[in-house]
Amino acid sequence: MRKVAVLGYGTVGSGVVAVLEQSEDQIKRKLGEEVQVVKVLDIRDFPGDPIQERIVHDFEEILKDPEIEVVVEVMGGLHPAYEYVSQSLCAGKHVATSNKALVEAYGAELGVLAREHGVSFQFEASVAGGIPILRTLNTAMIQEEIYQVTGILNGTTNYILALMEDTGATFQEALADAQARGYAERDPEADIEGYDAARKIAILASMICGKHIRYQDVPTQGISGITKADIEGAAALGGRLKLLGSCSQENGRFYVSVEPTFVPMDHLLAAVNSVFNAVMLKSSMLGDTMFYGKGAGKLATASAVVADVLAALDGNGVYEMNTWSSEIEEPVHPADRPCRYMVRAEGAQTEHPLFASLVPSEGGFSALTHQCSRKELTALLEQIGRQAKVCSVFRKMEE
Ligand code: HSE
Repeated sequence: MRKVAVLGYGTVGSGVVAVLEQSEDQIKRKLGEEVQVVKVLDIRDFPGDPIQERIVHDFEEILKDPEIEVVVEVMGGLHPAYEYVSQSLCAGKHVATSNKALVEAYGAELGVLAREHGVSFQFEASVAGGIPILRTLNTAMIQEEIYQVTGILNGTTNYILALMEDTGATFQEALADAQARGYAERDPEADIEGYDAARKIAILASMICGKHIRYQDVPTQGISGITKADIEGAAALGGRLKLLGSCSQENGRFYVSVEPTFVPMDHLLAAVNSVFNAVMLKSSMLGDTMFYGKGAGKLATASAVVADVLAALDGNGVYEMNTWSSEIEEPVHPADRPCRYMVRAEGAQTEHPLFASLVPSEGGFSALTHQCSRKELTALLEQIGRQAKVCSVFRKMEE
């Protein structure tokens, strides 16, 4: 029997215990052995829960237990998660984590520590929850040069935007609905302001780049300013607004952002609704590939963590997740290259050669531009502003 410890018995931690129990036969058949959670670290007690007899309150009990081979870190936050993970790696234990803040901030250092101690540090669940995107980049697509990654990386905001579109709800109404369903936290800032998606695209971008692209350097705009009129304007132009995390590389520079983006209705990403996530890649040999699935939720996220545990325990040797060096790569704003934009204004219509299409709406108009530079866009907005009020500007996704 192979022994595992879990740090944090919250949603994901209890999910990991459940997945290991429910998939017992499957795991035994594939791995040839049983995998059991023998200790769970939590500050709380769970009287009446079968987990109670495995609860420990002192991390040392896990660290000093030579039979525990894998430590699952699902407690979240940077500290003490960082200390527990580094100590586990130094003690020769594999680590699997779903903690995107930890991976984004310390991934480079923890990857080195794991290599030095001949163990694995894995974090599949930190990006797009249950979708196996990181391991795919590390294995099936290791030979590919990734030119572009574009993703719906946050389920809460995708749910809110879809609800606004489907029901005509305002942003505040849709947020309240998402909170009532338990999708959005009581403090929803990290989701709605794009910080959660920024951490995920920073991890993907760092993995592709091989250097550390920090999430605080990623130009990030959330969805709290999106109005019904914006959603209607996008629909009238034949598209949808989606919160996209994107990273593309050109001539050695990395263009990275998180922002509400105009997605044409016939694009696959436009069809990703509710809390689902999707990641699209453009790569050198394979061309376009897309991965779709649950980006959050107890069992989906825990499933990805358990996959990491099993990869670490697999008899083929230590599974090495490809991390990045701690050298900082400053990303470039995508608008530094020519882009297409959706512009919505209230007031008189403007004729302009940069407009590729324009639809009137009550009190104003929405338009899609041809490709233009930042300077051309500024001049266009100034011209519109002479007879109308520019209400919103969104980038159109790169295709
Ligand atoms: N809050 C995130 C989401 C899930 O809504 O997608 C955890 O990353």
